[in-house]
Amino acid sequence: MSLKSLIITYQQQVDNALNIFLPSADTKPTNLHKAMRYAVYNGGKRIRPILVYLTGAALNVQPKQLDIPACAVELIHAYSLIHDDLPAMDDDDLRRGKPTCHKAFDEATAILAGDALQTLAFYIISHTKNTMMVETLANGSLGMVDGQAIDIDSTGQSLNLEELENLHNNKTGALIKASVKLGALSCTDIDSEKLQKLDNYAKCIGLAFQIQDDILDVEATTEILGKAQGSDIANNKVTYPSLLGMKASKQMANDLIAEALTSLTDFGEPAEPLRWMANYIITRCY
Ligand code: IPE
Ligand code: IPE
Ligand code: MG
Ligand code: MG
Ligand code: MG
Repeated sequence: MSLKSLIITYQQQVDNALNIFLPSADTKPTNLHKAMRYAVYNGGKRIRPILVYLTGAALNVQPKQLDIPACAVELIHAYSLIHDDLPAMDDDDLRRGKPTCHKAFDEATAILAGDALQTLAFYIISHTKNTMMVETLANGSLGMVDGQAIDIDSTGQSLNLEELENLHNNKTGALIKASVKLGALSCTDIDSEKLQKLDNYAKCIGLAFQIQDDILDVEATTEILGKAQGSDIANNKVTYPSLLGMKASKQMANDLIAEALTSLTDFGEPAEPLRWMANYIITRCY
């Protein structure tokens, strides 16, 4: 199966599972539940749940066993985007080609929809009865919030490369690392060496993912991105292109993907889709 068809298969799988876990739009309070569904079902790439499925597949775990962690990371991601777009944060009006949640509804509903998506993520992951999974999701979520706090505090400030790397590793890397770890933890006899290698793979692709996001903010168009191009510049954000320049940023993303691939050397054929994903992360155009 090509990466494209594999991605579509897993996108459908997680979308179907999310539909079961999300309250229906006619459940009261309907405005809240409509906003939650609006933020989840609006064309996300589903990279984090796909990483859960692909990591599990690399370790021979069946997709059905991965639905809960796959949905949980996507719910956290959806909540993080609602809050990221709020006027108090990046103040963006467009997400995935549609009005952001606070524009389509209102700010209070958007904040509450984010809160409810986060709570739902922990509610469903608790059903695995696997405390390591719950801890992994909590660590990823907390790292993401730490990163967002640093992002806000450092807006308009100057950061050095080490500080920017720490910001990106937290705001985006933490949830990507959690996604891969959740996939790995679903294999009950995973050894610590393999876990460590997958963790390094995830750390590298997580940082490369945000570097590519920063690059696309400069190079893509609003139409293709589905979110406002130039938002980082308008908001005075420190990004890889603003700190290192475009050429060095692309080189850095490439180097990280090379390191991610090295981490997978011992995983053989079943990890081939994880290698494809690593390359996709820096070649994607939105
Ligand atoms: C956007 O993530 C937010 C970042 C962490 C940079 P994605 O690019 O995965 O967003 P969707 O879910 O596909 O819209
Ligand atoms: C957001 O980073 C990371 C999150 C935790 C949501 P960005 O602010 O760069 O994400 P986009 O560009 O708005 O998607
Ligand atoms: Mg932001
Ligand atoms: Mg943003
Ligand atoms: Mg961005």
